[in-house]
Amino acid sequence: MSGSLAILLGALSLSTLHNNSYGGDNTTYYKFPKFWTNSGLCPLGNITHRSITDYLRSDTMQGNLLHLSALPHGALTHLRIHWLLELLEFQQFTQSGLPIFDFSLLDEFLIDLDMMNINPVVEFMGNFSNLFEKNPTYNDVIWDDLTYQVTKRYLNMFGAKKVLNWRFETWNEPDVISYNKLNFSLKDYVIYANSIKQGLIRAGARPTNSLHIPLRGPAGLFKKRSHHPICWGILEHCNANIDECPIDILTFHRKGSSPNASVILDESVHLLSDIYKAFPNIQQLLFSNDEADPLAGWSMPRDFQEDVRYALTFANIVLDHWKAKLDRKIFAHFEDLSNDNAFLSYHPFEFSQRTLLAHFRMNNSVPPYSQFIQKPIYAAMGMLSRLADMAASPIAIKTSNGLTLNVLKTTANKGQPMYSSWLVVPANESAYVNTMVTTNFHLCGNEVNAFIVEVIDQQLTNPVRIWRQFNSPPYPNSTVREVMRFHQTMKIHDTGISTTSDILLKLSNLSYPWLMLLRMCSNLNGLPDQPQNLQITRVTKSEVILTWQESTNSVSQYCLKTYQVWFRENQNSEWLKISNNWHLPFPFFQYAPVQNSQIVNGFYKVRSVDVFNRTSSFSAEVQYIEI
Ligand SMILES: *[C@@H]1O[C@H](CO)[C@@H](O)[C@H](O)[C@H]1NC(C)=O
Ligand SMILES: *[C@@H]1O[C@H](CO)[C@@H](O)[C@H](O)[C@H]1NC(C)=O
Ligand SMILES: *[C@@H]1O[C@H](CO)[C@@H](O)[C@H](O)[C@H]1NC(C)=O
Ligand SMILES: *[C@@H]1O[C@H](CO)[C@@H](O)[C@H](O)[C@H]1NC(C)=O
Ligand SMILES: *[C@@H]1O[C@H](CO)[C@@H](O)[C@H](O)[C@H]1NC(C)=O
Ligand SMILES: *[C@@H]1O[C@H](CO)[C@@H](O)[C@H](O)[C@H]1NC(C)=O
Ligand SMILES: *[C@@H]1O[C@H](CO)[C@@H](O)[C@H](O)[C@H]1NC(C)=O
Ligand SMILES: *[C@@H]1O[C@H](CO)[C@@H](O)[C@H](O)[C@H]1NC(C)=O
Ligand SMILES: *[C@@H]1O[C@H](CO)[C@@H](O)[C@H](O)[C@H]1NC(C)=O
Ligand SMILES: *[C@@H]1O[C@H](CO)[C@@H](O)[C@H](O)[C@H]1NC(C)=O
Repeated sequence: MSGSLAILLGALSLSTLHNNSYGGDNTTYYKFPKFWTNSGLCPLGNITHRSITDYLRSDTMQGNLLHLSALPHGALTHLRIHWLLELLEFQQFTQSGLPIFDFSLLDEFLIDLDMMNINPVVEFMGNFSNLFEKNPTYNDVIWDDLTYQVTKRYLNMFGAKKVLNWRFETWNEPDVISYNKLNFSLKDYVIYANSIKQGLIRAGARPTNSLHIPLRGPAGLFKKRSHHPICWGILEHCNANIDECPIDILTFHRKGSSPNASVILDESVHLLSDIYKAFPNIQQLLFSNDEADPLAGWSMPRDFQEDVRYALTFANIVLDHWKAKLDRKIFAHFEDLSNDNAFLSYHPFEFSQRTLLAHFRMNNSVPPYSQFIQKPIYAAMGMLSRLADMAASPIAIKTSNGLTLNVLKTTANKGQPMYSSWLVVPANESAYVNTMVTTNFHLCGNEVNAFIVEVIDQQLTNPVRIWRQFNSPPYPNSTVREVMRFHQTMKIHDTGISTTSDILLKLSNLSYPWLMLLRMCSNLNGLPDQPQNLQITRVTKSEVILTWQESTNSVSQYCLKTYQVWFRENQNSEWLKISNNWHLPFPFFQYAPVQNSQIVNGFYKVRSVDVFNRTSSFSAEVQYIEI
């Protein structure tokens, strides 16, 4: 390890880095962009305005989005939804032959996403009531205009600052027949991609400093060239004249072939070396694997996708890609990866499909409605959002019984009070012994450091296990749901004030697979910020979901231990803490008092508690009245 680290340091001498400023430790830290905070989904059903609209506006999808938005700030930043633009409704042509669309449903959906702090990935794909079959020789003009209309409208509506965080991408997997609804030939496709790019340029044009809105593509599978002529063909076209390439960021899909994470990286490296060998100019582009999943086929039920195994695979995908990014060879222009796992699971595969949430459609209720349970992969996405902005190259630590821990150390930027967050991942499927680690943090003056260790574990935080214990009911009753929810998120494993620079990692009680996050935090970090935008959403009778927003300043969440939820029935009654016994590390609480005497009508407020037991001010009070 130390040998390869030395080589790495040499290679990285030009990049931004700094040494740990808190101790005598020589760890080198690098800027650590959170490159894994993307997810995606594809609506089921026909590719028509009506079908896609019904799916995306359904109460089930709204419930799914509500849960996705209730991850900590920055855990899930982008959502790639195929056929999103089908929310546009083609109305008629103008006299000059340009399409007029009804934008109202797309507006509404994007405003909702924006309120949830989720950025869309807009893929220019759709049928638009057979718009492109009406006069095919004219399709270049229509694509250019459609792109311009969409992009310009949302620049005006949301402002450039926001929309530049969105992503714009070409048609998903254009070589796959089930996606290539327009039957693009390579020639058609090149015209299409150039037209999209033109539309983006026109939308970003300003009298001075025009906006550069990058186009991502070709979102290709890049199987054999003879089978996938379009994605390979556009790269050939671009290589020949890179300055006229419509694509700014290369996107491809490389998945694994087993739960083993390293295959994804290996496959990506293979593909990139093939691409770069054939088309060297493509090396200039940033690239993204925007479907970087362990296995193809989201709906295929697989045991490992149910439990902590998938969470561990995800953590390893992140570690592997971070190492590759630091290596700077073929991964020099790695931008990010996306996990295609925001789908809605369906019966009888509630837990086993590739999703973040287990979805139960409660058909035994009138009317039917949806319940969601957070899977360990969801908890893992939340967990990784607590990593800091600078990270070292992952290291392997040997325990006294000869096992390996992979440890990713991250730290706050220089000049800020101490915050350090370590992701600890087991490399062996064995029982670990408790292990002392040295943090090397020096305290100055009357500074105090606290630590908190949170875990995801196959025994303690594994709701599918609970579901099985109750014989996998298709309609889990309120008791079963409560027990599952009690096991759905990270648990506090250990916390306290640090008195020495050594910390004992208590590993012997963990059940493989598990993930651990150790956070250390100085009291010089401020108090947690007040929770914002408390919202109460009805689930069913006497059951609500509370969500709120964390400060967009992630520094203020560094020392967060948990949230508390308080309730009172009316303005004269006492406030009661209703979140007793729950660890609430994420801005989410589902309140379903089991006893009939308890009701959900009343006032709610939320605050955060940090590792020093300091509390933030309460959120604004919000009243809920059941209809
Ligand atoms: C840091 O590196 C220097 C020079 O390589 C070495 O002498 C020193 O012992 C190292 N310190 C620690 C804490 O590892
Ligand atoms: C999809 O279209 C087919 C044929 O038009 C129709 O039979 C089917 O019901 C549609 N499915 C949905 C989900 O709308
Ligand atoms: C496109 O939309 C039209 C009208 O809404 C529908 O009849 C047709 O089946 C759709 N085409 C595809 C390829 O889904
Ligand atoms: C698709 O295009 C090819 C030529 O590019 C043509 O041979 C084929 O008939 C077309 N298929 C359909 C369904 O239009
Ligand atoms: C995972 O796959 C890599 C090859 O991509 C292999 O070297 C490694 O041994 C595999 N690990 C496991 C646990 O199967
Ligand atoms: C533990 O895992 C590491 C890394 O995969 C491996 O090198 C080592 O041989 C494993 N140790 C045991 C005892 O299985
Ligand atoms: C509930 O009803 C939906 C729609 O009819 C169906 O797809 C689903 O399989 C049903 N769920 C269960 C658990 O039976
Ligand atoms: C839910 O089901 C479990 C097991 O089937 C049972 O023990 C429990 O009493 C039920 N709870 C309610 C509220 O019906
Ligand atoms: C950890 O495991 C030991 C031995 O199995 C047991 O005695 C102890 O109670 C466990 N501790 C916790 C916190 O579960
Ligand atoms: C915070 O409060 C809990 C519960 O009262 C207590 O066990 C813990 O020691 C306190 N932590 C600190 C850092 O004071």
